[in-house]
Amino acid sequence: MTRALATNDNSMIPANRYAAISPEPNVLTDIYREEINLSVWQCTLTQTLNSEVTNLLSNTSELQLSIAATPEQTIGELHAASALLVDKPALTEHLAMLVDMFCTLFELKRAGLRLTILNKAMCPKFHVDHIPCRLVSTLGGVASQWLPHDTVDRSKLGAGSKGKKDHESGIYTSESDIQQLNAGDVALLKGSGWLGNEDGALVHRSPAPVSGETRLLLTLDFID
Ligand SMILES: [Fe+2]
Repeated sequence: MTRALATNDNSMIPANRYAAISPEPNVLTDIYREEINLSVWQCTLTQTLNSEVTNLLSNTSELQLSIAATPEQTIGELHAASALLVDKPALTEHLAMLVDMFCTLFELKRAGLRLTILNKAMCPKFHVDHIPCRLVSTLGGVASQWLPHDTVDRSKLGAGSKGKKDHESGIYTSESDIQQLNAGDVALLKGSGWLGNEDGALVHRSPAPVSGETRLLLTLDFID
């Protein structure tokens, strides 16, 4: 059941949703608040980590890693999954920290970790995820875009767009409504599978990378 607010004319409108954004990592716990559908830790990546990511992106265009990551063993699991990560201590330690935070926050034994190099937009149209919650972090390149809840016309999601592109479908009114995350940001995106959030899922999309540029994208999901 989606919580709704009664208005004076007795019609029901879905409760509003907001983003919680902070340079403090504990902002991620705000995702448990009913009115929050996006929490973002504005994490500044170290210079060493940035150079490892730059090095990875300039030496390979093919990386599609998908593993079940266990908090205590993430670094070993990453090394076993790709030789490209063996000489990237800052990156693998950062990923292990995020797996640990995600599993602690949601009381999980393991997380579904995907680490991907993208040279085109994976989900180019605004959409919602039909899952409870996903951690998304762009470690290099252009980061994800999202729309504040009160700017979205949800009737234009999916088939409601009638095949039109986002700038033609009416899903948002003004280009200035489009918000953009930054590389390094650690974002928790609440989906429609979160109890009570069926009509409040965060609307987001992958940006189109500039031609010739690539992105390194991390996602963490619930797997069991
Ligand atoms: Fe998505």
